[in-house]
Amino acid sequence: MEDYKKIRVERKETKGKKKLIIHNPTSLKLIGEGSQGAVFQLSEDRCVKIYVNPDAAIKEGKALEAAKDTNIVPKVYEVGPNYCIMEYLKGLNLKDYLKQTKNIPETFIKQIILIRKELKRVGFTRIKTSIGHFIITEGDVLKAIDHSDGLTKNDPYNPKMFRDLKNLGMLDPFLKQVKEIDPEIYEDWQKNIDFTLL
Ligand SMILES: Nc1ncnc2c1ncn2[C@@H]1O[C@H](COP(=O)(O)OP(=O)(O)O)[C@@H](O)[C@H]1O
Ligand SMILES: [Mg+2]
Repeated sequence: MEDYKKIRVERKETKGKKKLIIHNPTSLKLIGEGSQGAVFQLSEDRCVKIYVNPDAAIKEGKALEAAKDTNIVPKVYEVGPNYCIMEYLKGLNLKDYLKQTKNIPETFIKQIILIRKELKRVGFTRIKTSIGHFIITEGDVLKAIDHSDGLTKNDPYNPKMFRDLKNLGMLDPFLKQVKEIDPEIYEDWQKNIDFTLL
């Protein structure tokens, strides 16, 4: 179980392209990687995210801790110098789901709105929620991952989620439904997000 401490990740830039280099001398399975680090499965319900930058581990640990009572982020178990042990969320991510279905059920739209409100309520100053960072867990319950900048960056209307929906060809139907479900949030987005720049 201590094996994961032997894993190191670093970011290298060659010809302007950033690449994550993973040194994994263990048999732990890589389940995903991003710009900050790589995630390995520890057990049926736990995973560990190993970060390039130790600061990011501390920041993500604090963000997960701040949101822990909302049940919309993975539970956090342990934070170390370059790692964070958290709940492994089993399920398809929303982006892969939408690529297949080309239709976003109302329950997911309601949950997306709620998750963003909850993150704000617990003190997040960056609300990003990329579509690929929602995991559809058991019972069609959405949870959000990747929060290392949640409490530290001032970016409450990050356009990434809307750009993701646009790239999937689903932004207009999504916004139309949001307008009906929660007109206030719809107006708030119209005021603060420039949809022509996505
Ligand atoms: N708690 C989790 N449960 C299941 N998969 C996860 C979890 N956290 C991360 N992942 C997987 O690992 C990938 C990279 O994690 P992420 O937090 O996005 O890293 P980064 O901050 O580097 O972008 C995710 O896209 C997802 O596939
Ligand atoms: Mg990520």
